[in-house]
Amino acid sequence: MPVSIAVFASGTGSNARRIMQHFQHSDAVQVRLVVSNKADAGVLDIAHDMGVETLIINRTSFYQSEAIVEELRSRDIRFIALAGFLWLIPAYLIQAFPRAIVNIHPALLPKFGGKGMYGAHVHEAVKQAGETETGITIHYVDEHYDEGPPVFQARCPVWPTDTASDIARRVLELEHRHFPIVIEQLLLNQPVTGGLE
Ligand code: GRF
Repeated sequence: MPVSIAVFASGTGSNARRIMQHFQHSDAVQVRLVVSNKADAGVLDIAHDMGVETLIINRTSFYQSEAIVEELRSRDIRFIALAGFLWLIPAYLIQAFPRAIVNIHPALLPKFGGKGMYGAHVHEAVKQAGETETGITIHYVDEHYDEGPPVFQARCPVWPTDTASDIARRVLELEHRHFPIVIEQLLLNQPVTGGLE
């Protein structure tokens, strides 16, 4: 019986697509549900194309009720991957899924994280700071943006001639390469290899 997971996303869904593709023929892991807070998010079209059920959530129900827990439990979902999900995860959901919610952040946390640090804002800040490298951080989620325990990091160079979109492209490639594999390693209790030195 495969472990069922949910992917939460607010936007394009390129990471969600890679995760769905990675597990499409897996006997061990199944992407059971894609959850989004935006009814027009590109990720919903990707999920539909890949035959994955979708669920749209609204702010009131997400923060004033715990209905999402039942939606997840009724589908036997054991793990949640945040792949560009822009809302803060409420405490009740973290308590319902202890050490079973991970997020991917497009920088080397703890630097360049926290509220408002998402998408191009991150890469602009990395460039403005004159960093010579950046990368990705995959971490467990707690009640604060981007502060949960890190699980994995991967690095890439930043060149002086890079624009923020050059950096974004290089970082996104790292995300696509590593996020599905790290999720699999966590779910199958395999060692997560990769720069947390
Ligand atoms: C990624 O850059 C990820 O690091 C951040 O949100 C973005 C999602 O991009 N959390 P996509 O929707 O998966 O293309």
